[in-house]
This record gives sequence, structure tokens and C-alpha cells, in this order.
Amino acid sequence: MENTPKKITVLGAGAWGAVLAGLLARKGHNVLAWDFIPVVVEALDKNRSHPKLPNFVLPDSVRLTSNLREAFDFGAEAVVVVVPSHGLRGLAKEWQTMEVGKLGAPWIICTKGIEEESLLPMTGVVEDVWGSGSAQRIAALSGPTFAAEVARELPTTVCVASSNPELSAYFQNLFITSAFRVYTQDDVIGVEIGAALKNVIAIAAGVCDGLQLGDNARAALITRGLAEITRLGVSMGARPETFSGLTGMGDLVLTCCGNLSRNHSFGILLSHGSTATEAQKKIGMVVEGVRTALSAYHLAKSRGVQMPIVNEIYAVLNDGKSPKDAVRNLMDRAARPERD
Ligand SMILES: NC(=O)c1ccc[n+]([C@@H]2O[C@H](COP(=O)([O-])OP(=O)(O)OC[C@H]3O[C@@H](n4cnc5c(N)ncnc54)[C@H](O)[C@@H]3O)[C@@H](O)[C@H]2O)c1
Repeated sequence: MENTPKKITVLGAGAWGAVLAGLLARKGHNVLAWDFIPVVVEALDKNRSHPKLPNFVLPDSVRLTSNLREAFDFGAEAVVVVVPSHGLRGLAKEWQTMEVGKLGAPWIICTKGIEEESLLPMTGVVEDVWGSGSAQRIAALSGPTFAAEVARELPTTVCVASSNPELSAYFQNLFITSAFRVYTQDDVIGVEIGAALKNVIAIAAGVCDGLQLGDNARAALITRGLAEITRLGVSMGARPETFSGLTGMGDLVLTCCGNLSRNHSFGILLSHGSTATEAQKKIGMVVEGVRTALSAYHLAKSRGVQMPIVNEIYAVLNDGKSPKDAVRNLMDRAARPERD
């Protein structure tokens, strides 16, 4: 394995961006992290810690900036993108403007979501901005990862997905450590649909736990949730088996059962009577499942794919349906075979 230190820019220095910047710096890479909120950058630079990550220490070698031009001029050999899904298109456009006449470094996108307007997954958004052929320099990183556990160097596994096998191998080598095991994948759409949709099912699992519906109900949600995610993914060209892997079942189980999941916590708050806005405020960090519920609802509708759990979460978030009524609707659906 080649271990030459590389210049790496991390775009987005929230919880996940800060932890990935730290991991890469500890591997000896030369890391510059950017965030668009100057106070986030100043606090991270000064304290070398993150308010939501107990005991996390950002290595002194990680440099920080809130100036995107500076992040670009750093001349990174790889760009790790960890901004929220709604910020990705704007960032890809700004980066493209700066790249004119220059050889672009590959991007690895660690954001999980589906863009609301275009209904594209995250790598699709960047390809849409950069144009045909750009898929060769874009990868996605996904899997069952709570930033707080990666920060503590607890054993974690992820997949790097790209249609370009050389790029997957490049990023696998860049990130892998003895605590952070990286697999490669070529089913990019399967990986991204699993990554995005598990956040919606996690909100449903939070509702279920908040209403104290029991372990049977949570197991049912995870299993039927995976069936919905698989149906949608396969309709978009994904391989069914991808959904039983790390970025499908693996991430879904983590997000629905782990008490560090903000989407799950958001669901609990909804079940206790908070509105979506109030719950979002209480969590204080990006809750990707809220936007993804909207995108997934429209995506499923446009493709004629049955997604009853997604539909109910959509109705709770957008039509003011009560979480209890949503559960009742799911249980009262017409009887049907498990596989159809
Ligand atoms: N936290 C985790 O454990 C974890 C694990 C895997 C994947 N992810 C994914 O990583 C992404 C980021 O999550 P996070 O936990 O770091 O979130 P976060 O809320 O901690 O941080 C997001 C950062 O993005 C910045 N930001 C906000 N809006 C922006 C915009 N419009 N343009 C550019 N930057 C913007 C904010 O300043 C903030 O620092 C999400 O898609 C999430 O699903 C998170």
C-alpha cells in the first residue's frame, strides 16, 4: 500500500468533516479544512475540539479556513466533501468556476442525501454541474459511521463507491487505517440510495421508540424499510445485493438502533409532540432525513414505487399528520404477501 503524504482539502468542517480531517491528518496527510461559517472555523481552530464530539481532538497539523479560494489554491490532490446536501450544488458550481484551465482533483462525497429539486443523489448533483465524463473523478464514501465513534478510533467499516475502479482504490488507500476499514464498491446508485434513505427510516424508528411501540415494531420498521429502499434503488438501476451490505442494511441498523443518531433522536422528539422545526432546532445539527423524506416521496411517486413508511413520514413532516395516526395507517394497510 502506497502511503505518500498527500495534500487534501476537506470541504465542510462540521462533526463528520472534522473527524475525517483528523483521521487523514493522523495518517500523515497535509490537510486543509474549510467551512463556510467563519465562527465554526475560528472555534475549531482555537479549541481543536467539537461541541458534539466528546474527547475529540483535531490535530494541530490540520489548517482551517473559511475562504473557499484559499481552500482551492491549496492545490489539493484530493477533495473530501462533507457539506450538507442542500449546500452541495452551490459548492460544486463555485469550485468549477475556480478550476477553469486547471486539472481538477478528484472529489469524494461523504454527504448523504437526495437533492430536493433535481431528485439526484449526491454524486449525481456534482456530475450534473460538471458535465458528462466527470463521473470518472467522483466517488462517494458511505457506511455505518457515527462521527463520535470514528473520533475515538473505534472499529468502523465503510465503502468507497465509484464507477472508476482506479479512483475507488485511490480513496480506499487514502482513508484506510487499522480502525477504519474501507471496502470498494461499483454500485454507486445502490450505495447512495441506501445512504440517503436510511435517514428517513431512522426518523420512523425514532417515532416508534418515542411512542414505546416495542422491539417487534422497530425490527419490522428496519426490515420493511429496507424492502422499500431496495425497491426504489432497483428501480433506479441498483443491484439488490448492495442493500444487504454496509451501506444498506449496515447503515440502516446503525441509524435505527444507535442512540447517537440525530435522525432517530429527531423522530423521538416528533413522537413527543415537537414540530419538525422545533425538533430540528433542538438537535442543532443537520438532520438530513427531513429533506430526504421530501425527495424520496417525490422520487417514489415519479417512479411508481410503493414506499408506505416514507409516505407516512412525509405526511407527519409536511401535512401535520400525528405520529400515532401514521403508525395506525401503516398497520391498517391491506394484507399482502411479504414479497411482491
Ligand atoms: N455526523 C455523522 O456521524 C455523519 C456520518 C456519516 C455521514 N454524515 C453526513 O455528513 C454530512 C454532514 O454532516 P455533519 O454531521 O458533519 O453535519 P454538521 O451539521 O455537524 O455540519 C455541517 C457543516 O456544514 C456547514 N454548512 C451548513 N450549510 C452549508 C452550506 N449551505 N454550504 C456549505 N456548508 C454548509 C456548517 O457550517 C457545518 O459546519 C451529512 O450529509 C451527514 O448525513 C454524517
